[in-house]
Amino acid sequence: FYRFPLIPVHGVPLMKPIATSWERIEKFQARPDDLLIATYPKAGTTWMQEIIDSIMNEGEVEKTKRAPTHVRSPFLEICSPPPVPSGEYTVPSGIDLLEVTPSPRLVKTHLPYELVPESFWKEKCKTIYVARNAKDNAVSYYFFDVMNKTQPDPGTWEEYVQKFLKGDVAWGSWFDHVLGWWKAREKHEILYMFYEDMKEDPKREIRKVMKFLGKKLSEESVEKIYKHTSFSAMKENPMANYSSLPDNVLDQSLSPFMRKGEVADWMNHFTISQNKIFDEEYQRKMKGSTLKFRSNI
Ligand code: A3P
Repeated sequence: FYRFPLIPVHGVPLMKPIATSWERIEKFQARPDDLLIATYPKAGTTWMQEIIDSIMNEGEVEKTKRAPTHVRSPFLEICSPPPVPSGEYTVPSGIDLLEVTPSPRLVKTHLPYELVPESFWKEKCKTIYVARNAKDNAVSYYFFDVMNKTQPDPGTWEEYVQKFLKGDVAWGSWFDHVLGWWKAREKHEILYMFYEDMKEDPKREIRKVMKFLGKKLSEESVEKIYKHTSFSAMKENPMANYSSLPDNVLDQSLSPFMRKGEVADWMNHFTISQNKIFDEEYQRKMKGSTLKFRSNI
């Protein structure tokens, strides 16, 4: 396997194959009916992708089983397969796929707002952003970096907490990401969602997305989408659990992609001192913002 180094692009650390293809990503041509699904990694992207695809299919959830997530909703900044010394196969190129995908396209990105190709805003594309509380997001990202053989080695959990706080991880700082997109709501048509809200009342949040997309579906369809996008259903669904990617990309024997899917799992991982350091940094970075995550987590 090959773990790509991080290279800064406009100050944001991105994996080498993304950094070296930056010109192509920057020039990506959006279409007016593209829907952008933006998240910091591990905030609930795949869950939201599945909800959106189910809504776009009018609640006929069987239709979502036509292909795996990364084909139904390609990953914008993954360019043509980079050379992998030990393997012939790596993450498929999302940008190549997008260019041949018929409209309306569901475009996934982890880019911070400032790095999103300008054409999305020129074309006035709708965007759905999902944010997840920082501590759970960090834990989830740590386990992902353990199992994702293309991402930099996370090191120990202790080391990882430091890197996460510094933003020294792929796609950069969680703080800059959630705050940048929060501010962008003032300028663009962005639905800003929270993982914790989705966990609390999935049907309410599914309806929120439907409204944003201008889709009216029956209660029966909402019920179907709710069941189809539950954690247990997605964990078992080969078209949603990333089992289609080979072990040299995602080694699910180390940690499954559908790991726990819970709120406040951070309590099982943070030590008292890590929590204290994290809280102090959190106060500093989030000071003055109207963006609030729930206080009990
Ligand atoms: P955990 O590692 O905490 O379990 P992303 O899709 O952005 O990579 O995010 C993955 C995280 O979302 C993982 O979190 C995963 O388990 C969780 N997740 C995926 N589908 C989910 C669902 N249907 N319900 C709740 N959590 C889900």
